[in-house]
Amino acid sequence: MIPLLEAIGITKQFPGTLALDNVQLELLPGEIHAVVGENGAGKSTLMKILAGVSTADSGEIRFEGHPVLATSPREALLLGIAIVHQELSLVPTLTVAENIFPGRLPTNRFGMVRYGELFREAGKVLQKLNVAVDPHAAVEMLSIATQQLIEITKALSLNCKVLILDEPTSALTDHEADMLLAFLRRLASDGVGILYISHKLNEIFATADRVTVLRDGKYVGTEKISDITPDEVIRMMVGRELGNMYPPKSERQGVPLLEVKNLRLPDSQASNNFTLYEGEILGFAGLIGSGRSELARAIFGAEPKAEGEILFNGQAVTIDSPKKAIELGLGYLPEDRKAAGLFLDMSVKLNMAATVIDKVSSGPMVSPRKERILAEQYVQRLDISTAGIEQEIRRLSGGNQQKALVAKWLAIQPKILIVDEPTRGIDVGAKKAIHFLLRALAESGVGVIMISSELPEVLGMSDRILVMHENAIVAEYHWENATEEKIIRSASGN
Ligand SMILES: Nc1ncnc2c1ncn2[C@@H]1O[C@H](COP(=O)(O)OP(=O)(O)OP(=O)(O)O)[C@@H](O)[C@H]1O
Ligand SMILES: [Mg+2]
Repeated sequence: MIPLLEAIGITKQFPGTLALDNVQLELLPGEIHAVVGENGAGKSTLMKILAGVSTADSGEIRFEGHPVLATSPREALLLGIAIVHQELSLVPTLTVAENIFPGRLPTNRFGMVRYGELFREAGKVLQKLNVAVDPHAAVEMLSIATQQLIEITKALSLNCKVLILDEPTSALTDHEADMLLAFLRRLASDGVGILYISHKLNEIFATADRVTVLRDGKYVGTEKISDITPDEVIRMMVGRELGNMYPPKSERQGVPLLEVKNLRLPDSQASNNFTLYEGEILGFAGLIGSGRSELARAIFGAEPKAEGEILFNGQAVTIDSPKKAIELGLGYLPEDRKAAGLFLDMSVKLNMAATVIDKVSSGPMVSPRKERILAEQYVQRLDISTAGIEQEIRRLSGGNQQKALVAKWLAIQPKILIVDEPTRGIDVGAKKAIHFLLRALAESGVGVIMISSELPEVLGMSDRILVMHENAIVAEYHWENATEEKIIRSASGN
């Protein structure tokens, strides 16, 4: 069978980083081909080259056996290669329909957009993919998960032969991810070749036909999924055994650190009560939209709460802004790094120092030496792969951006740290590192609140687990009594 797409000897050098070094990849028609590797391994870079978004320094790309080099996304699309990027790229102020057909809006003979037809066509595509969204809705009003589905719908509406998906499920619920994967299998059975990047090995093992592993910009190998185990894939990715992903639970009996009393979120009648103890990791489980992030933001002073009281070390406090929260020693790692966490144009160093200006200053002046020491310390501790601390953070791979965000909050040396989906988009090795780091923080007395949609992570990390449903805490489990089944039942309101 002639491969649909082949990459041979692809090399790409960025200033300070050899992102791809003589890499190869082969995609057959009707195949779902997973591409895996640690953060910064070069996955997104390779996909961007295949999709004409960026060009290789050397190497050859063949499409249906013929050498090609798409030098723009438009050329790639003409060949039939579509890509869904790791970071969302929709225009927030436009409607769903306009986002699905950018640059291809149906017009009449006067060049006016035929909106009736546009919305009808968009409605058809959305329905075909089972995406329940109004084509008239403005994209900025939609959840990240829905935006991700629109992004995928857009690529699929192009009737492509090759579909590239760069971590498409990282913002989706399990149910949405299952629907997407089922759809991809149907698409593949029609002969479309799919390149699928994901850190979720269970997804890959349930869906892909073959897997190619990259490590530090180098090609490690390609295997049939039926011939290999997840542990073997991990070993190819990181070059060693990883062992247990989760640190042991705490033995501590701490005093109450944070007491939340009768906290009610806007648009809800439920009044929430819970206590966070010194040295514990308190997990928050629940479906997307169940109010976990809203509750966290209300405590952090980033969003209004309808009513309620917060006690910190036994003292009533008013937290009416994130600034106040940080002064008290509260840190909050948000779920959406692009919107709420990173200054993309700034360097790794300045991003890390942003929340701790006083720690990196001598008197009224910022000390470049202290800034550098702080940044270098965290780059090393979290094993962040970057050309240096002066590198603009937008040039880091997705997972390394997430690690830098974690570092930024560790730098404030919080007494309480709330982390919202802390390992989204992070590779297995780094994920384990962040797990052990959170446990070490707890062991040092910090109270950690961890929101996660990944049940194994909630169960593996938490000392206690609270489950939310429709803006209310509906269940509490000690780790010894918690199971996935119980949590799912509570999260769905039963
Ligand atoms: N525009 C750029 N300028 C400089 N360096 C870059 C640029 N884009 C990527 N890099 C570097 O190239 C390497 C590979 O990055 P890439 O984004 O391909 O990784 P990845 O495998 O997709 O990782 P992740 O799983 O974190 O998304 C990284 O070290 C990254 O910092
Ligand atoms: Mg990437």
